Amino acid sequence: MNQAKAYANANIAVVKYWGKNDRPLNIPCVSSLSMTLRDFGTTVSLSRSSSKSHESFIGNTPAPLNIAQRTAQYLEQIRKLHNFDGFLRVETESNIPLASGLASSASFFAALATAKNQLFQLSLDAREQSMLARIGSGSAARSILGGFVGLYGGDQLTHEEAYAFQVPHHESLDLAMVIAVVSDQKKPISSRDAMTITKTTSPFFRAFVDAQEQDFEGSMIALRDGSFETLGTIMEHSTLKMFATMWTAQPAIIYWHPQTLALINLIYELRRTHGPVAYFTMDAGPNVKILCTQSILPELVRKVASAELTTTIFCATPGPGSHVVSKTQSCL
Ligand code: PMV
Repeated sequence: MNQAKAYANANIAVVKYWGKNDRPLNIPCVSSLSMTLRDFGTTVSLSRSSSKSHESFIGNTPAPLNIAQRTAQYLEQIRKLHNFDGFLRVETESNIPLASGLASSASFFAALATAKNQLFQLSLDAREQSMLARIGSGSAARSILGGFVGLYGGDQLTHEEAYAFQVPHHESLDLAMVIAVVSDQKKPISSRDAMTITKTTSPFFRAFVDAQEQDFEGSMIALRDGSFETLGTIMEHSTLKMFATMWTAQPAIIYWHPQTLALINLIYELRRTHGPVAYFTMDAGPNVKILCTQSILPELVRKVASAELTTTIFCATPGPGSHVVSKTQSCL
């Protein structure tokens, strides 16, 4: 096979992962849980290259140096696990703004891992593909699977133990995610560097890690029982504990913009009038992701749009995991 093409959706964490144990293998310090988003993702075409190094393109344009270097570094790392000869050409198409905390790297590395599996006929199952994707970006492991997805993390875990798995949910849970984009500018500090600073300097980091197992277990029970209020409450608490570690790092890491806080207040106000219908989360960036019931979605979108705090609003329902795209098919 000379070329393989794969597509992966982004995912947004409900129970957050923050901090790594073993930097080269990207073993997360904590377990996390996410929702995979439908039609919000990245297609990667992978082929053998005759050049003397790996090549990266976004569309037909050579990728910026930092992206090309990170991709090449990843391909060299995974060469150690599944050896291959020569160099590779990586072509990417995405409908997600890059590096702005919108999970573009999760969908990219998940699609790349699935394309690698296909190109080299490795016959890796979803669990093994998630381990491969995790090496590129911790959260990418979760984009290998669809719906709600757990990812094991922890102090003592080995490469083989830090994998993603699908989490069943109650059929009554009809959920959607609204992505309220406040800024699609590149974030001031990568999540990778921010995690290292946080882990080594924040006095709250240990407390975040210690509380995480309870959130992880609690979120799986809430999904099983169909309790959206419990799930949403855990999501907001996990999110704010994660940001508390960043704010108390040295130097402090502050991704939020004033609009971020205004959107949080908008969600609080919506809950005061409509009950437990929507909950917020954020990642390494100022953008607000709102997990909501599908019944409140039209009104929520109207309210977010009329508040004039955002540049773009995306909506997504739970979507499928990464998959190979046939030559005639295009996902984007
Ligand atoms: O996948 P990474 O290494 O870029 O880390 C992403 C971490 C958060 O998005 C902030 C949280 C998460 O669990 O996705």
